[in-house]
Amino acid sequence: MSTHRPRPDRRRFLMGAAGLAAAPVVAGLAAGCTSAQPSQHSRAEVDNPVTKAATITGRRKLGSLDVSSLGLGCQTMPGKLYGPVTSRADMVTLVRTAADQGVTFFDTAEAYGPLESERIVGEALQPVRDQVVIATKFGFDFDPQTGQRRGGPNSQPDHIRRAVDAMLQRLRTDRIDLLYQHRVDPTVPIEDVAGTVKDLIAQGKVVHFGLSEPGLDTVRRAHAVQPLTAIQNEYSMLWRGPENEILPLCQELGIGFVPWAPLGMGFTTGTITPYTRFVEGDFRAAVPRNSRENLAANMPLVQLIQEWAVRKGVTPAQLSLAWLMAQHSWIVPIPSTTRSAHLAENLGAEEATFSADEMRDLNSALAGISIHGQRLQPAVLAQTGVEAPRQ
Ligand SMILES: NC(=O)c1ccc[n+]([C@@H]2O[C@H](COP(=O)([O-])OP(=O)(O)OC[C@H]3O[C@@H](n4cnc5c(N)ncnc54)[C@H](OP(=O)(O)O)[C@@H]3O)[C@@H](O)[C@H]2O)c1
Repeated sequence: MSTHRPRPDRRRFLMGAAGLAAAPVVAGLAAGCTSAQPSQHSRAEVDNPVTKAATITGRRKLGSLDVSSLGLGCQTMPGKLYGPVTSRADMVTLVRTAADQGVTFFDTAEAYGPLESERIVGEALQPVRDQVVIATKFGFDFDPQTGQRRGGPNSQPDHIRRAVDAMLQRLRTDRIDLLYQHRVDPTVPIEDVAGTVKDLIAQGKVVHFGLSEPGLDTVRRAHAVQPLTAIQNEYSMLWRGPENEILPLCQELGIGFVPWAPLGMGFTTGTITPYTRFVEGDFRAAVPRNSRENLAANMPLVQLIQEWAVRKGVTPAQLSLAWLMAQHSWIVPIPSTTRSAHLAENLGAEEATFSADEMRDLNSALAGISIHGQRLQPAVLAQTGVEAPRQ
């Protein structure tokens, strides 16, 4: 649990409102900056009091990897998964703005776009490459050059090596700081996967190894071949499944934990209701938890979050992220956003803390709320918790 502060600095709690005010300023400043003029941008950011106020300073450790206490998820930036974005240029600017505001941990994957999220991240971070940690993922059968999807999981060693070479080009870098297997391949022993990543680490192309949504035994077997730095699974006030087995395992083995969908794909921010209609193609429309009936049945969670947000003087998004960070010092959420106002708001979560009594009360209220509907579509859910075959 995080340290308790009797009188936390309330300035950062107002980031929701300040972020809205700051948005045009931040976007405008950043828009005037190209990758060739990083110093101009940094100077302007430093001189801007609102941007400075939104700077995140906390640092956490995932295994031996140092990162900002909140990362930035970059999955939605290609503008397909959760609906369209304003423009590609705005997304490059947003990623760069996050770095200028102290975020050092950026999460992407070959599958996001596909390929396009990595290109956006690479373009945005090239001028500040040595100050940031880039995490990406392999594991599906994409053509590494064209992004054409050829099948399901693919963690064959040759495919991993080709995928990593293409990722390095898109990310405009010579190394991937944290490379995850996106989903366990039920046809490839995890020892072969971990051994391949170990070779890539020896070659300097990769620095740290992680798994996403793995089976528990697969974690132990991978860790024995190449120590794992992080596990990335869904975890939020909406989905607390990791508390049963994977978090205790991470604690036992000294592995960091990165919650994906830390805002419940937007639900815990209070901006999704039973009346929400997702645009065509929005991945969330097909998630069983998001049917009109299930959204209505899950509204007590939003009400609880809103009550606690008022009580703590924060926004619901900030409360959701602060709750995750309070669970363990080795948890680093990666909320995704495509708006600079939301970015600024989310970074303000850093300063919301809970006393032991508050956390007990909140968790007990949470435990009294049943969540309705599966977290993913059946076919996608079937790819989680998979154990790799034995050699
Ligand atoms: N390993 C895996 O299998 C896996 C799977 C899914 C995701 N991920 C990673 O996890 C990251 C985050 O997950 P996610 O995008 O699924 O879900 P999320 O971060 O829980 O939610 C993102 C949604 O919340 C909205 N949002 C963000 N901040 C907000 C705020 N302050 N107020 C209101 N709404 C806000 C965003 O909309 P706006 O854009 O409008 O802000 C977006 O629709 C991804 O980017 C990706 O890197 C990994």
